Amino acid sequence: MNLFRKKPIDRATGAEGEIHGGHALGRHLTVRDLTFFGIAAIIGAGSFSSMGEACFKGGPGVVLLFVMCGIACGFTALCYAEFAARVPTSGSAYTYAYVTFGELFAWVIGWALLMEYSIGNIYVAFSWSGYFTNLLEGLGLHLPEWLTINYRSASRAFAEGTAGEGLTAWNTAPVIGGLRIIFDLPAVAINAMITALVYVGVKESRNASNAMVIVKLAIIVLVVIVGATYVDINNWSPFMPNGFGGVMAGVSAVFFAYIGFDAVSTLAEEAKDPQRDLPKGMIWSLVICTSVYVVLALVLTGMVSWSQLDVSDPLAEVFQLRGVKWMLYIVSIAAVVAMTSVMLVFQLGQPRIWMSMSRDGLLPKKFASIHPKYRTPGFSTMVTGLVVGLPIFFTDESFILDFTSIGTLFAFVLVCGGVLLLPRRAKEKGRFHMPYFNSRWTAPALLLGVVALLLAKIPDYFPGLLDVSGHAAQNIPQLIFWPLAALVVVLAHVKQWSLIPVLGLLSCCYLLTGMEVSNWMWFSIWLLIGLACYFAYGYRHSKLAPPRP
Ligand code: ALA
Repeated sequence: MNLFRKKPIDRATGAEGEIHGGHALGRHLTVRDLTFFGIAAIIGAGSFSSMGEACFKGGPGVVLLFVMCGIACGFTALCYAEFAARVPTSGSAYTYAYVTFGELFAWVIGWALLMEYSIGNIYVAFSWSGYFTNLLEGLGLHLPEWLTINYRSASRAFAEGTAGEGLTAWNTAPVIGGLRIIFDLPAVAINAMITALVYVGVKESRNASNAMVIVKLAIIVLVVIVGATYVDINNWSPFMPNGFGGVMAGVSAVFFAYIGFDAVSTLAEEAKDPQRDLPKGMIWSLVICTSVYVVLALVLTGMVSWSQLDVSDPLAEVFQLRGVKWMLYIVSIAAVVAMTSVMLVFQLGQPRIWMSMSRDGLLPKKFASIHPKYRTPGFSTMVTGLVVGLPIFFTDESFILDFTSIGTLFAFVLVCGGVLLLPRRAKEKGRFHMPYFNSRWTAPALLLGVVALLLAKIPDYFPGLLDVSGHAAQNIPQLIFWPLAALVVVLAHVKQWSLIPVLGLLSCCYLLTGMEVSNWMWFSIWLLIGLACYFAYGYRHSKLAPPRP
C-alpha cells in the first residue's frame, strides 16, 4: 500500500491539459481583483459578530490578539504564496500537500478544507440572515419567526421553555403531516443566489465581489471616522482587565475574522499571472484587513466600556449605546454586504478544490467537469450549493463555528510544514520568492525567550499544565504543544530551516491549543469518516495508483 505517493510538481502545474471535457477555466483576474477577493473573503461575520465576544473577554488588549493573529496568518500567507508561485493550480492547500506530504495527507487536507469553505458558509449564512431580517424590520417588513430561525434552535427554545423568537416560531409554525415547518428562509435564499452567481461565471462573481468590497470598506471607514469622534480614552484603561488569559480566550473569535485570505489561492487557474499575482493578492488583502481590524478594535473599545460588548452585533451596539441612531441602518447594510461577499468567495473556492481532487482521480470525474458556456466547474458548484444549503434546515450555528476554525488551522499547519519540505530554488524574475532567513539560532533563541518570559510573568504557567486536579483535559493540547515546539526548533537548528515557515507552523499550532477538547473529538470523527471515503473510492481510483490488471 502506498498511502504517501506524491504528485510530481511538474504534473501538478500542467493541469489544464488534464481537464475533463477539454475546457479550461477563464483567466480574467488581476492583482487588484485577487486582493479584492481576499478582502471579500476576510471581512465578514468575524468583524460584525464575533469581535464583540473577543473585546468582552480581553478588553482593549484584544488589539494585541488581532496583531498576533495577523502575524500568524502573515507567516502562513507567505507559505501559501511560496506554494502558489510553484504550484499555481486551483487545489490550494490540497495540491500543496499532494506534492509534499503525499496522497493521504492531501486527502485529509481536502476533507478539512470542506469544513472551512462549506461548513463555514453555513455559519455565515445564518449570521447574514440575522442582519438581513433586522434590515427588513427597519423597512417595516416582518417575516414570520418560523421563516427566520433554524429548526434546532426553535425546538431547543421550546424544550427549555426560553421565551423569544425560537418559542414564537415553534408555537406559530404551520404543521404538515405532524411536522412543524420551521427553517431559515433568508439563509436558504442567499445560498441559492450565491450558488447561481458562482455557477454562471467568475467574471460576474468578480464584478459583484469588487463592488461589495468597495461598499464594505467605505462603510467601515465611515464607522471608524464617526466612531473616533466618540472615543473616550478612559475606556482604554485598564488595557487588559482580565489579564493576558482574557485576551487569549478570544482566539477562536479573532482567528475566524482572519479566515479567507487562503481562498485566493483556489483562483490560481483564473488569474492572469498566478505565480506573480496570487502571492501579491494574498499578502495585500491580509495587510489591509489587519490594519482595519486593529483600528476597528481600538475604536470599539474606546467608544464604550469593554464590559458592554458581549453582544452578537458589536458594531451596531456601540452606536446604539452612544445614541447615534442613524449609523445603525448603515452598519446593518455593511454587515449584509460583507457577509454576502464572504459567502461568494468561499462558494467559489470549494468547487475548485473538488475539481482538483477529481482530476487526480480521488473523486468521481463529474466533479472536474467544466460548464461549456460559463467555463466554471458547474457540477461541483451545484454540489457545493447543496452541501451548504441542506444543513441549513437542520443544524444551528454555534457548533459550526468551532468546526470551521479547527479545520482551517489544521490546513494552515500542513501548508507551513509543507514549505519546509520543498527543495530550495533560485530566484526567478517576476515570480514570488519567500525570503530565506536561517532559523538555526533564531528559532531556539525565540523559543527560549518565550519560555523565559512565561516563567517570569506567569510563574505557575508550566506547573499549572501538570496540575491534574485542575482542568487536566483542557491542558492536553498545551502539553502536546510544548514538546512539539521543542522538537520543531531542534529540527530547525539541525536542518537550517527557513524561519518564516517555522514561525508559521509554531504560531498556528499554538492557536490550535485554544480549541476545546470536545472540538478535537468531533474533528477526529470527521477525519475518520473522510478516511473511510478515501479507502472506499480515492485510493483505488487515484491517477497515481498502479494500473489495474
Ligand atoms: N473571515 C470570515 C468572516 O469573518 C470568515 O466572516
